This record gives sequence, structure tokens and C-alpha cells, in this order.
Amino acid sequence: MRILLIIALALLPTASVLAETPSDAATYQGIGSKGYVWNKLTPERAEALRLKGDMDRGREAFRGCRGCHKQDAFGRVDGIYPRLTGQYASVIIKQLTDIRAGLRLNPKMEPFISPDAVSVEEIADIAVFLSSLTTIKENGKGPGDQVRQGEALYVQRGCIKCHGSRGEGNEEKIYPALGAQHYSYLLREMELIKVGARGNSHPDMVVALKEISTADMEALADYLARLPDRRQAGMK
Ligand code: HEC
Ligand code: HEC
Repeated sequence: MRILLIIALALLPTASVLAETPSDAATYQGIGSKGYVWNKLTPERAEALRLKGDMDRGREAFRGCRGCHKQDAFGRVDGIYPRLTGQYASVIIKQLTDIRAGLRLNPKMEPFISPDAVSVEEIADIAVFLSSLTTIKENGKGPGDQVRQGEALYVQRGCIKCHGSRGEGNEEKIYPALGAQHYSYLLREMELIKVGARGNSHPDMVVALKEISTADMEALADYLARLPDRRQAGMK
């Protein structure tokens, strides 16, 4: 009985379906729980944003991340590990502090980003380092026959309002750049966001992806993966 209880408690934070019960809201503050605030300025996040960040220290601290995201931070073209190069520092800080807070579940990565492994200073350093990287490698792409349909959906569903006309995102508003990201990763994240399993999502994006079919998500990913890398294309 006791063991069962321990197992049940261990599972609680991952079970977003349970998030509606008041007792759960206290432990799990992800999207779907009562009182969810997107991008809440927690003390850790505020500190990471306040720090200036140092590129060389970031390169050094990133050593612990290369096993998955690879030496060049390009991830894997099959999308198992996302490409991190050129993403905005603000976005990286948000995602890392959310993962640490348990809002965005990432069990594989957790031991590598826990406070024991990486300090708040190092989060700021890594963010500056990654955002400075430009890659010239080919990212993982989709079939390429649904690009036009994907583009139409991107406009119709209002993704363009936040992620920009060329998928360049917005550093200040903390909207990620999506262009030239790996196809399979984009697809997986849309699915997670749609079902509420990516707990740190912007609520308006969950609405934008509501009741979308798999075929339409594939079209969107086909389009986005073929948009240019914002840094290579000289975008802001
Ligand atoms: C054991 C493998 C592994 C290690 C080591 C790892 N990561 Fe990750 N990381 C992942 C996976 C898998 C994802 C994507 C999870 C998902 O699908 O939501 C990810 C996602 C991310 C994201 C979010 C990207 C986005 O576009 O939102 C960032 C930022 C990130 N990792 C940074 C790091 C940093 C910094 C380190 C080192 C301190 C690190 N990772 C170490 C596996 C790893
Ligand atoms: C209100 C602004 C907003 C809208 C509208 C929006 N997004 Fe997002 N999107 C975000 C933010 C913010 C994130 C980062 C996740 C977070 O922390 O909330 C994100 C993340 C993503 C990611 C994951 C990127 C990564 O690196 O992990 C994908 C893919 C994505 N959005 C696609 C879309 C698509 C497709 C649409 C339209 C159907 C859309 N978004 C609409 C704000 C928005």
C-alpha cells in the first residue's frame, strides 16, 4: 500500500489530466492547472535574465550537453534532439528554467540541467553562447510537398502573429525562432503542445493548435523546417 502511494505520488507531477483537482494544482502549476501563469517571473528566471552571460564560460558549460545536442549544438536531424544554434537567449533561459521547475517535462535531460549540474550563472552563459551560433548544416526536413499548405495554415491559425512572417520569432516577447529547426522535432512539439503535455506553453498557442489534424501539423512542420535559419538569412 505504502509503495503504491509512493508510486502514485511520484507520478503526480507528470499527470496533467489530474491537474484540475485543487490538491494537484498546488504541486503542478503547468498549463491546465488552475492559476497557471505563462512565463511567471520566478526568482531563478529573474536572476538568469539579469545576469549578462559570458560566451566563453557558456561554451565551457555546454560540454555537459554535447552528449545529446552534439558538439555543434545542432542536435540530430532525426529530431530526437533539437537544434539549439541561434535560438534567442531569452527563449533558452525560459525553457531551461521551466524544465528545472518541472513545468516542461524532459526526464532525459533533467539530471544534466539540475542545479547540481548547472548554476544560474551557467544558464545565462549557455544562453548567450547558443544564441551566437550560426550553422551551415542541413537541418532535418519533411517531404516538401506540403509547404504551400503549411504556409496557408501558418497564416490562418495565427502562428504568424507570434512566430513572424519568416519563422524568426521575437526575442523580447520570448517567442522562439522556428525556421530551419528539424522537422520531426517540430512535429513532436506541436503534438505535445496541442494535448497540453508541454506544460509551459503559451495558452494562445494551445488555442491556435486546437483540434488540428495530424496531416495539418505535418504540413506546418514541412513548411517551418524549410524556412531559413534567421541568422544565416541575416534576420534580426
Ligand atoms: C540526455 C540527453 C540530453 C542532454 C544531456 C541535454 N539535453 Fe537538452 N534536450 C534533450 C531533449 C530530448 C530535448 C527535447 C525535449 C522535448 O521533446 O520536448 C531537449 C531540449 C532542450 C532545449 C529546448 C529547446 C527548444 O527549442 O525549446 C534546450 C534549450 C536544451 N535542451 C538545452 C540543453 C542544455 C543547455 C543542456 C546541458 C546543460 C542539455 N540540453 C542537455 C536532451 C538532452
Ligand atoms: C501567442 C503567441 C504564439 C502563437 C499564436 C503561437 N505560438 Fe508557438 N510558441 C510560442 C511560445 C512562447 C513558444 C515557446 C513555448 C513557451 O514557452 O510557451 C512557442 C513554441 C512553439 C514550438 C516549439 C519550438 C521549440 O523550439 O521547441 C512550435 C513548433 C510552435 N510554437 C509552433 C506554433 C504553431 C504551428 C503555431 C500556430 C498554429 C503557433 N506556434 C502559435 C508562442 C506562440
